[in-house]
Amino acid sequence: MSETVTINDVGPRDGLQNQAKILEPGQRLELIEALLDAGLPAVEVGSFVSPKAVPAMAGTGDVVAGLPAGKANYSALIPNRKGYDLATAAGVETVELVVASTQTMNEKNINTGTEQAMANAADIIDAAKSDRVKTLSCVATAWECPFEGRVAEDVVLDMTREMFAYGADEVVLADTIGAADPGAVRSLTQKAADEFGAERISCHFHDTRGMGVANVAAAIESGIRKFDASIGGLGGCPFAPGATGNVATEDVVLMLTQMGFETGIDLRKLVDAVDLAIELTGNCDGGNSINWLRRQIEKGAL
Ligand code: COA
Ligand code: ZN
Repeated sequence: MSETVTINDVGPRDGLQNQAKILEPGQRLELIEALLDAGLPAVEVGSFVSPKAVPAMAGTGDVVAGLPAGKANYSALIPNRKGYDLATAAGVETVELVVASTQTMNEKNINTGTEQAMANAADIIDAAKSDRVKTLSCVATAWECPFEGRVAEDVVLDMTREMFAYGADEVVLADTIGAADPGAVRSLTQKAADEFGAERISCHFHDTRGMGVANVAAAIESGIRKFDASIGGLGGCPFAPGATGNVATEDVVLMLTQMGFETGIDLRKLVDAVDLAIELTGNCDGGNSINWLRRQIEKGAL
């Protein structure tokens, strides 16, 4: 039996948060439904953040209310305790909290310093434990920060250790600006897997320098089996200058399928979801593999 890799599509959050064109909750649900149709086992459906900071994510409560029950593991991003309270009141069962590896990135992204952000994380994880809510703790800018440059591995490993000490269920190592390379990914993910267990770590890559799938492959070598990716390669953080789209879900799924991993995702239907992402946003070309995938569909080979 082939090994399974779990893909969490973050397009409806990371992909849409930075779009000039703001989608209605109904359109965001359409995109999520296309992803579910393609067999995505996990979807980040939105974020509970200040609508002043990220107008495109207003109305995430309505998105959550419209989700078809039991189709996938749904999560929502939260920046603070207020976000946690809103998310859980809306019925979200998995929250992703975010702390960046550097002081400046935290100040830009969530208007607070690292120490306070970690204290908030401890408080949220504590509440989540008693509420039986699952927590994904994201260490953002885990390889490089757009303001402070390269980030030392020990900084990220120390934060990861602390998140687990608070009781986090999983830690997501995020290359927020897409600056990591396979060597740096292999090194950090191996250390994280050795210390914390590969099954508790997932990775989040952006394709800014075209190294997204290479970075996924490097993390696979370290034993990581869970990845964020975004349909069509949509994405980018509004507070991280220079960040472009996430590694495209179709590129990651194609690579993993070709490598013999099981993802449970139907590539043909995934291309339908890419088409919808293009139609809805008007600002997406699809991943690097999209033309090849389309040709296979035309030939009846997929
Ligand atoms: N959801 C909705 N509204 C929120 C909120 C949340 N999670 N947290 C705070 N607010 C509201 C407050 O109620 C307050 O509203 P008011 O002006 O109507 O009174 C306002 O936002 C300011 O609250 P404050 O606590 O002072 O927040 P802030 O201005 O320091 O901003 C964040 C902090 C975290 C809310 C804001 O920076 C943010 O939402 N960042 C998200 C960034 C993001 O999504 N990045 C991409 C993903 S990593
Ligand atoms: Zn991201």
